Amino acid sequence: MNPTTSTMLDTAFKKDVHDGLSAFPKFLYSKYIYDAQGDKLFQDIMELPEYYLTNSEFEILDAYKAEIASLFRGFGDGFDLIELGAGDGKKTKILLRYFSENEFNFIYKPIDISQNAIDSLTESLTIELPGVQVDPEKGMYFEVLQRIKQYKDRKKVLMVLGSNIGNLLHPKAIEFLTKLKDAMNPNDLLFMGFDQKKNPQTILDAYNDATGVTAAFNKNLLHRINRELGGNFDVDAFKHWEVYDPESGTAKSYLVATKHMRVHIEDIDLTIDFDPWETIHTEISQKYDDKIVAWLANESGLEIETSFSDSKEYYKNYVFRRKEQA
Ligand code: AVI
Repeated sequence: MNPTTSTMLDTAFKKDVHDGLSAFPKFLYSKYIYDAQGDKLFQDIMELPEYYLTNSEFEILDAYKAEIASLFRGFGDGFDLIELGAGDGKKTKILLRYFSENEFNFIYKPIDISQNAIDSLTESLTIELPGVQVDPEKGMYFEVLQRIKQYKDRKKVLMVLGSNIGNLLHPKAIEFLTKLKDAMNPNDLLFMGFDQKKNPQTILDAYNDATGVTAAFNKNLLHRINRELGGNFDVDAFKHWEVYDPESGTAKSYLVATKHMRVHIEDIDLTIDFDPWETIHTEISQKYDDKIVAWLANESGLEIETSFSDSKEYYKNYVFRRKEQA
């Protein structure tokens, strides 16, 4: 990289786009799908009949809210419910409503990198559940967790819904879980959703829906590079492609070039050539079973306390504690 290029790579987005598209094979990180347009497309995905994850988790929270509530509450003097990646809070409201109706002593602390998401969630909670004490925070998970670590006065429940962990390969997932564990005291809980292995066709359909919403979501990466970095991708000349390996449980998304293309990205001074059928790997959506989750937990210093499943066993929410020190 010449010195001029390195001074141009002054944001993580620019650097990651530069490195990913200069690599062989090419890749881009899925976290960059989520600008305002990507957030909107993800909301649309969650409404799709094929994208079973949302309804499965909804069913679990609704069916087991009393059991989940009694685990969260414990026997102490209340708890802080800290949700990472709170989004629109649609599923969380099932629990919040139950806690509120049963006069639980708790504070709800939603954390999200999107100020927009935090503002609309807080506003909707003021209207729908005025009794709930909300203490929102905008930020990256780990900056906020650093601070949260100091809260030692009462029980904390960390919550990550939506199988967000599935966008991380196992080593990164272990890093993530270990950091969560490090923010926990022995009495604290981690409540997390993990999409399960199932009929491979069901998984493929969820990530390759008939109406093309997931394709548009994936392609938003290229639109975003065009919009924000002065790229000239011919987005329609890329095809969304999904594969699922039932052995590893990994679903992978690609954008596949349908012809030879030369693309220039002005703001990072990068010209890239695509051969016909060359790929950009954009996302992984890992699927799990109890053994893999127990292994991930063990590697991260956590243990599974219990889990809840939907009626089709498509999805599970696990409750973890810190592993007892030997
Ligand atoms: C946010 N994440 C858990 C979603 C998933 O299922 O991997 C993102 C997504 N990608 C395509 N559809 C939904």
